[in-house]
Amino acid sequence: MSDAATFIERLPKAELHLHIEGTFEPELMFAIARRNGIELPYGSVAELRAAYEFENLRDFLDIYYQGMNVLRTERDFYDLTWAYLERARAENVLHAEIFFDPQAHSGRGVAFATVIEGLHRALEDGAAKLGISAKLIPCFLRDLPAEDAMATLEEALAYKDSIVAVGLDSTELGHPPAGFREVFDRARAEGLLTVAHAGEEGPPEYVRQALDLLRVARIDHGNRALEDPALVARLAREGVPLTLCPLSNLRLKVVEDLAVHPLKEMLAKGLCVTVNSDDPAYFGGYVNENYRAVQEALGLTDQDLGLIARNSFEAAFLDAPEKQALIARLDAYLAER
Ligand code: ADE
Ligand code: ZN
Repeated sequence: MSDAATFIERLPKAELHLHIEGTFEPELMFAIARRNGIELPYGSVAELRAAYEFENLRDFLDIYYQGMNVLRTERDFYDLTWAYLERARAENVLHAEIFFDPQAHSGRGVAFATVIEGLHRALEDGAAKLGISAKLIPCFLRDLPAEDAMATLEEALAYKDSIVAVGLDSTELGHPPAGFREVFDRARAEGLLTVAHAGEEGPPEYVRQALDLLRVARIDHGNRALEDPALVARLAREGVPLTLCPLSNLRLKVVEDLAVHPLKEMLAKGLCVTVNSDDPAYFGGYVNENYRAVQEALGLTDQDLGLIARNSFEAAFLDAPEKQALIARLDAYLAER
């Protein structure tokens, strides 16, 4: 293993942009399908993996929503989450903020309670047995009506103590943040933080709307913000964190090559960038593979990588003492080298 790969492997980090349904590895998908008596439209793990060729976000989402169809019981959601936490811990992820898509489950008759109880129980075991801290962020599907999002928020509020924020995901183009203003106002009035996918495929205006109308504490992706210098200056001035997902961008053709990924330019412009895996089972790599890929393609130094890890803790939805404790572990690692 190269020096950089070893450095990344042992680097303490947080993961802030991770869809739990996007960690559904084909092997587990087949096992759960069998357990639930469901026939998958693929004959084998290899055949399923071969279908993971995407032209854009919509292409991917079709397969992603199809895959999660076999998740039916609380145990299924527990198993999915536990598998991710074990993996994350092995990659030195000390803290994870995990998205889930309640409407993708309620729309096929799986109750919000079933989903969140499975997820939450896995997080409790993750803290107790693996020493990994984690928080949950339900996301609203922006290609469904805002009324559906509001109804989902009402369900989520019954579990307010188990979630830290709400998010916005799914097909971006044609579904600007503005439509979800009232939903996000209500979430914030209930004490929840907010985040939104913006500028992945959508224009800089969607990033502005997420900031001004949804009052988000972080932007998920944000790649296209770079097209608007005034917006970049604002993101830098206000210290708004961006949760970048390099391998996702490559596989969804948001960038044609990692050598032209905006991460390095964003760092140079003083933006608070973080590196994350988005949907690692579909995009060919968990968080360390994402760090490795950008390190190699963009020639990042250990100092750059250390800054990205520091940003991940600074941008986390933790209180100051919790952040300090994690940053102290990062500093100890950097000092011992
Ligand atoms: N849902 C899961 N992954 C997503 C992504 N990269 N963008 C928007 N919605 C998503
Ligand atoms: Zn995402």
